[in-house]
Amino acid sequence: SAAEKGGYDYFMLKEIAEQPKAVADTLLGRIGAEGQLTLDELRIPAQVLKMVDKVVIVACGTAFHAGLIAKYAIEHWTRIPCEVELASEFRYRDPILDARSLVVAISQSGETMDTLMALRHAREQGATVLAICNTNGSTIPRESDAVLYTHAGPEVAVASTKAFLTQLVACYLVALYLGQVRGTKWADEILPVVRDLARIGEEVERVLETMEPVRELARSLAGHDTVLFLGRHVGYPVALEGALKLKELAYMHAEGFAAGELKHGPIALIEEGVPVVVVVPSPRGRSVLHDKMVSNIQEIRARGALTIVIAEEGDRAVVPYADHLILVPATPTLLQPLVATVPLQVFACELATARGNEVDQPRNLAKSVTVE
Ligand code: G6P
Repeated sequence: SAAEKGGYDYFMLKEIAEQPKAVADTLLGRIGAEGQLTLDELRIPAQVLKMVDKVVIVACGTAFHAGLIAKYAIEHWTRIPCEVELASEFRYRDPILDARSLVVAISQSGETMDTLMALRHAREQGATVLAICNTNGSTIPRESDAVLYTHAGPEVAVASTKAFLTQLVACYLVALYLGQVRGTKWADEILPVVRDLARIGEEVERVLETMEPVRELARSLAGHDTVLFLGRHVGYPVALEGALKLKELAYMHAEGFAAGELKHGPIALIEEGVPVVVVVPSPRGRSVLHDKMVSNIQEIRARGALTIVIAEEGDRAVVPYADHLILVPATPTLLQPLVATVPLQVFACELATARGNEVDQPRNLAKSVTVE
């Protein structure tokens, strides 16, 4: 009913709008006054966390993209090697795990069959399993050694939005907490990030306030067949997520690529007028990453692409090459997905509407895939 949708036309719109609160709720009570993380609910002894020599993340769909981003954070902040794998591949691969492996299973519903089977397999090998989950008492957290709940509230729309942002927050918390427990890079690197993370909900709110041009752009592209997405570093999984949203909702051919792979194939797809969404890293952090992306935008634009550039406020270098510029607030490089994903959700939702598709219940898809 209209009341259930809180005055929005679709649950997806309501859930996109709820993201600042979902993010804040997921952080609530988990960051102390001095910036120390308190994840007591984890119930994994510090001794065990100190011994971990490998992190393996398993998930499906949008949750898998959260895992891909988590890898960059975990390896950078903790120096523990991290692998991310689709649960459906992991479980049939005979993966190598032992008592020093920490397996993180990410699932909004807590009921995805492949993710559940992957975690059962991991526990049989003696690994410690941590669930990141949005549904209290669901099967995946019940069968895990520990759980960190995301506090997104119920997500109704099939295409995941607020659950994804809170999965990212939970992943960052786990990564930072591992760094804290193990004492790596604490004061110089981790503490400043914790402070930025603590107020990231406000930045997400600011992004939401500037989405009208994105909706307008989406409507103007309703007649296209293909949209490509490019990213680097954590912007690469953001590109994958932007493409997934567009497939799910707009039923358009959409693909995400690592920008460095352009020359190895994808650039052959660029022809006059093809829309390409490019997620540009902050020019302040790792400037090499930024500079490479700027040359990638030049390359595709020279071949006729319609460039839709998502960049940080104040990034002047991208301006001459952006047919459409979508600015997001400055964040530390690793946290950028929390703000850069939001315009892609709005974009896909508006394109779906413009194409006359059912936003909350896309054809052929289910909210939770409990069969193999
Ligand atoms: C389905 C949903 C996706 C979701 C995926 C994983 O495909 O349509 O939105 O990302 O399952 O679901 P989970 O509940 O495990 O996060």
